[in-house]
Amino acid sequence: MNKQTETVLSYHNRTKHSLERYAKGPESIDWEDQPDQFRRFSGCEIVTLPLPGAELEPSFADLDKPETIPARPLNLMNAGLLLELAFGLSAWKQYGPSRWALRCNPSSGNLHPTEVYLISPRDSFIKSGVYHYVSHDHSLEQRCRFEGILPDSDILIGLSSIHWREAWKYGERAYRYCQHDLGHALGALRYAAATLGWSVELLAEWSDDDIAKLLGLDRDDFKKQEHESPDIICRINTQSETMPLDIKALLENAQSGTWFGKADSLRAYHMYKWPVIDEVSIAASKPQTEEPEWQTVQQQVIQSSCTKSATQIIRQRRSAQQFDGKMSPMQQTDFYRMLAAVMPATAAFELWRWPPKIHLFIFVHRVEGLAPGIYALPRDHDALAKLQAATLADFDWQKVSKAIPLYHLYSGDCRQIAKTLSCHQPIASDSAFSLGMVAEFGETIEAAPWQYRRLFWECGLIGQTLYLEAEAAGLRGTGIGCYFDDSVHELLGIKDDKLQSLYHFTVGKPLEDKRLETLPAYGHLGGVV
Ligand SMILES: Cc1cc2nc3c(=O)[nH]c(=O)nc-3n(C[C@H](O)[C@H](O)[C@H](O)COP(=O)(O)O)c2cc1C
Repeated sequence: MNKQTETVLSYHNRTKHSLERYAKGPESIDWEDQPDQFRRFSGCEIVTLPLPGAELEPSFADLDKPETIPARPLNLMNAGLLLELAFGLSAWKQYGPSRWALRCNPSSGNLHPTEVYLISPRDSFIKSGVYHYVSHDHSLEQRCRFEGILPDSDILIGLSSIHWREAWKYGERAYRYCQHDLGHALGALRYAAATLGWSVELLAEWSDDDIAKLLGLDRDDFKKQEHESPDIICRINTQSETMPLDIKALLENAQSGTWFGKADSLRAYHMYKWPVIDEVSIAASKPQTEEPEWQTVQQQVIQSSCTKSATQIIRQRRSAQQFDGKMSPMQQTDFYRMLAAVMPATAAFELWRWPPKIHLFIFVHRVEGLAPGIYALPRDHDALAKLQAATLADFDWQKVSKAIPLYHLYSGDCRQIAKTLSCHQPIASDSAFSLGMVAEFGETIEAAPWQYRRLFWECGLIGQTLYLEAEAAGLRGTGIGCYFDDSVHELLGIKDDKLQSLYHFTVGKPLEDKRLETLPAYGHLGGVV
């Protein structure tokens, strides 16, 4: 086993929560000292985007057939909508003197470690260069002006993470959460693009070093602990015919371009240090790689009964803080639709270029026509035998649906166990169902340690789909990053690291907290939504 693989596995093991102890985190938190959620670069020219909040025609159900949605022209308005619907503010919440922003993409602890860049390869609706998106102001800060001009007429979106922003609250486990959030961000980007009739192509071949060069993350413009780690570049295909991207020329443009601005300090006092996060980040950094062709093959999924517009569903997405534990069972058709939507080769996963490595183990509590108990959804036919071999021998593996590969494993009331396993959180038991996302883990990491991140991204992508599907079914979801890793494995009979649970999720009927006031997302800019 090479050193990087060892470092990644050791990080994963030491950041497991267990019934006896939580992973290492800060002993106390000073909320006054929370890192600024909104990064800004001083000294850049600002491009103000048109006021957000426009309603677009496509219904949420239309997103199943993205080819039927007419592509909108690439201009400042539509690029702004892409950024808003993926990463913009969705509301402000207020309780007494406290006020906090929510965004279209969720984030563990609402800390938002993900930063977003737009790259315009040529002068078009915006001057060529690299821009940083400030969701609070719905504006772009021009970080770099390219000298050369490329023929490419599409835009790129670059994503990075400020690990420390997350570690401030969650300590050593924070690196995992940054990766989950990145997966959610990819999902959010895909839904936003599809609503505009565009698609997202992951330029997954790129090395982290090259991403850093393009986004200017390797520059001396950041306070030391507040630097950004490169994650991924996505190409937004806004037209059916696209030209091949000249990566070398693009990087040369960034390197010979004129850079502006310095990152403002995130203000917080750096009291705790978490060196294992830097260690795992280095060990899991990605070289340039060859990747399978991007294919946009899509399977027809069970039809959504949602009649709302896509923009409505995207903007209303929230995490439930509490569920109605006395809800009547959710409809079976909605449950099957939600699971069908997270299968690979569906529209929501068109950007994912690899065979699925994440499979679901579901605690059904309240679903019409299904016995409460444990169920499994292998997301890949080839995984079925692996999952059967690595879990309890007395699971019965009876297929319960023709439309999706859902298998019944065990009947019984799992509410208490689901709650205990998810760090005693009632959201895992008062819901209609909760689930663990189990990864094909050991062999994947041994083959390439940087794939550790990709496994979490896949989980985040599934989570984002479930969030939106839950809203579409009149329910609500919540991501669950806090769970007792090895207790989950024990319950399922998983004995080694071939399989590991990497994320939990729950869906049910939400209870609103009436004490909280909801304010419009962009009221501070004069908007009404
Ligand atoms: C990766 C991830 C892990 C999360 N873990 C939990 C959790 O363990 N418990 C919980 O109540 N909420 C959890 N959440 C929900 C966040 O707290 C929520 O997304 C955040 O407060 C922003 O609120 P919003 O989703 O309503 O926009 C998680 C969200 C994400 C994306």
